[in-house]
Amino acid sequence: MINKQEAEAKLKKYGQEHLLNHFETLSEKKQKELLGQIEEIDFELVNNLYKNADKIDTSNDEISHMEYSDKYKLNDEYKKYEKIGEKAIKEGKLAAVTMAGGQGTRLGFDGPKGAYDIGLDSHKSLFELLCDNLKEGEKKYGVKVPWFIMTSEENNEQTIEFFQKNKFFGYQKDKNIFFFKQGQLPMVDTEGKILINEEGVIKLAANGHGGIYEALVKNGMIKKMKELGVEWIFIGGVDNCLAKMVDPLFVGMAIDKQVTVACKSVVKDNPHEKVGVFCKRNGRPSVIEYSEITDEMAEAVDENGELLYGESNLLCNLFNIDAVERMGSLPLPYHIAYKKAKYIDKDGNLVEPDSPNAYKFESFLFDTFGTLDEMLVLRVKREEEFAPVKNADSAGVDCPSTARALYEKYHKLI
Ligand code: UD1
Repeated sequence: MINKQEAEAKLKKYGQEHLLNHFETLSEKKQKELLGQIEEIDFELVNNLYKNADKIDTSNDEISHMEYSDKYKLNDEYKKYEKIGEKAIKEGKLAAVTMAGGQGTRLGFDGPKGAYDIGLDSHKSLFELLCDNLKEGEKKYGVKVPWFIMTSEENNEQTIEFFQKNKFFGYQKDKNIFFFKQGQLPMVDTEGKILINEEGVIKLAANGHGGIYEALVKNGMIKKMKELGVEWIFIGGVDNCLAKMVDPLFVGMAIDKQVTVACKSVVKDNPHEKVGVFCKRNGRPSVIEYSEITDEMAEAVDENGELLYGESNLLCNLFNIDAVERMGSLPLPYHIAYKKAKYIDKDGNLVEPDSPNAYKFESFLFDTFGTLDEMLVLRVKREEEFAPVKNADSAGVDCPSTARALYEKYHKLI
């Protein structure tokens, strides 16, 4: 590991010398941690992200409608796709990945979001509901689809403890469940200076779910999948308790249509629903986020009165393993979030701001879609596949009570 002098030289080059201001006051353990961070961090990238924070201009992007296939209008093809997919699943070619790096902040839950109990009579957590879906797949196709769970530095330990406490929901640890951590990036203040956290080391935050590609490759998960004979990877969020992770139709369609990426959509509930929508950006597949879309675009309709940008992104994606591996070495664009972040100031005092004070850099899973020529969007039914848990019940939408009602209705529990 680099020593203090080497760290000083590195930091000087990037104008981040303040990070060592309180070095002598740290325990030996924390000193080592800080030096390790300084060695690892790509300061050039961080400085560039800060410099370009307000320069990302997508206003000249040409946005157009994205074609989709409707699951319920496939007619004769339906059975054909299902057969192809079923064969691949039975041959062990499918793996499932759950992106569980986020915390339940919006939900008001202090812990890994997957550990959240949405209030069903069974009191099953989101993780267990997802695992049930894999078990259902096992019953139907006679294979245990291996399950890879992406955690973050912030919740990795708690997540693993939760699985241990719940005996891995009976889904055989070691053989079928694998955990890996997503990457992190430093948070910076409005002057571009990297923040120091309460423990005196660099304040890092999860780098967004776009970090999944690099994390799958770097942590040896792609290698593991290849050893298991996996060719297709379902990647989904942790918060959709109706996600269908083992879906022969989806897999079969991707294989038959020879695409490397397929995504599921549902019709947008209303023009201003808080979901990303599929579109073409400069002729390539893309997602336009609810925070980016203009009212005019959100409300635009086609000749049949359907929303022009009405295919909502469910975060249910299927990737060919080679595409994921390629995406693991792609530089992704970063989105900037302005957040409240506690830090230690230059006099060594803890500051707890009550308004945003720091930038967090995140890349999104779908930022790689622009490298594809073709991508499949499969429209499915909301009541069958989309029950997200995002907010606390007080919000009235995408909250535990709405998800619970959808789940119970689908599973005919009510
Ligand atoms: C997301 C999508 C949106 C989509 C909606 C459907 C983004 C940016 N937007 O919105 O297009 O319509 O879901 O429900 O994703 N996660 C990580 N690591 C991170 C950040 C997030 O693992 O660093 C995971 C979360 O645990 C969660 C998922 O990614 O499972 C979605 O993240 P979130 O930030 O909650 O996105 P939404 O705003 O809900």
